[in-house]
Amino acid sequence: AVVRSLYQRRCLCSKMAMSQVVVREPDLLDRKKASIRNAGTSKLQVIADFDGTLTKYWCNGARGQTSHGLLQQGNAEYDAKRQMLYDYYHPLEISPSIPIEEKTKLMEEWWEKTHGLLIEGGLTYDAIKKSVADATISFRDGVVQLFEFLEEKDIPVVIFSAGLADIIEEVFRQKLHRSFKNIKVVSNRMQFDERGCLVAFKGKTIHVFNKNEHAIDMAAPIHDEFGNLDGSDVNGTFVKDRTNILLLGDGLGDLGMSDGVSFENRIAVGFLNSNIEKSLKDYSEAFDIVYLNDASMWGVFNLVSELC
Ligand code: TMP
Repeated sequence: AVVRSLYQRRCLCSKMAMSQVVVREPDLLDRKKASIRNAGTSKLQVIADFDGTLTKYWCNGARGQTSHGLLQQGNAEYDAKRQMLYDYYHPLEISPSIPIEEKTKLMEEWWEKTHGLLIEGGLTYDAIKKSVADATISFRDGVVQLFEFLEEKDIPVVIFSAGLADIIEEVFRQKLHRSFKNIKVVSNRMQFDERGCLVAFKGKTIHVFNKNEHAIDMAAPIHDEFGNLDGSDVNGTFVKDRTNILLLGDGLGDLGMSDGVSFENRIAVGFLNSNIEKSLKDYSEAFDIVYLNDASMWGVFNLVSELC
């Protein structure tokens, strides 16, 4: 019986994997869609993770790079030091056996050390531009069209990342050749001197396990693509007043990105990029919609069209 049930689970998983999208409770999803549509676009905001959510997990046959992973400081010694930190800390980040409090301390340590090395190793803005130009990174198909549609409808998008804001914004410039007035990046932001050398990081560090503490930043008005306040968001209202949320993430921790908003309705969309058989159950319980196999953003585009 155990073998049969394992076999049935395997069949179910492979069927779901082939079908690319899993919705555990279609009726609940339909109800959420109807409530959001009835409330109107002025109540809606999108909160998205960046790496592996807006960007492809696989890019031209290779693993897509993250905003941290693509960075070449132009200083081989420091690149190697950051790689050593990655090799040590990343297994701890994803280890299922370390309690979250302990992991949080370890992640604080990792981010602090990496940020320190970036400053000490003399990172320049020019090195960021070159790193992005050389990077294996690309947006999922349909992301541009999704952003254009949301901009047209004056729906704000908050991109929430434990990566590096300056790099994410450079990826937008180089890969999309444009910025969007409705997009705000909440991430670790660098401060450069007049020669273009990194001297400090602004504000509190955002790492993978404290993203939700920074949700409060979303209550601030939308910034322009360089992080400058423009005084209001696209509708002259604050993002926190938008109580219907479309959340896009690729990790279970990404669900915490909406903690700062007391929302009425939330549709959570998860991109399950790896360990599909092991994680599908948890993902399909936590997210309303789960996309598999490095799916495009067209499904989300169609969903948003239904909501507006
Ligand atoms: P996020 O993109 O989901 O917000 O998470 C950021 C990722 O960055 C996280 O999985 C760990 C990774 N990272 C690096 O690759 N190199 C680093 O130096 C640091 C601090 C994080």
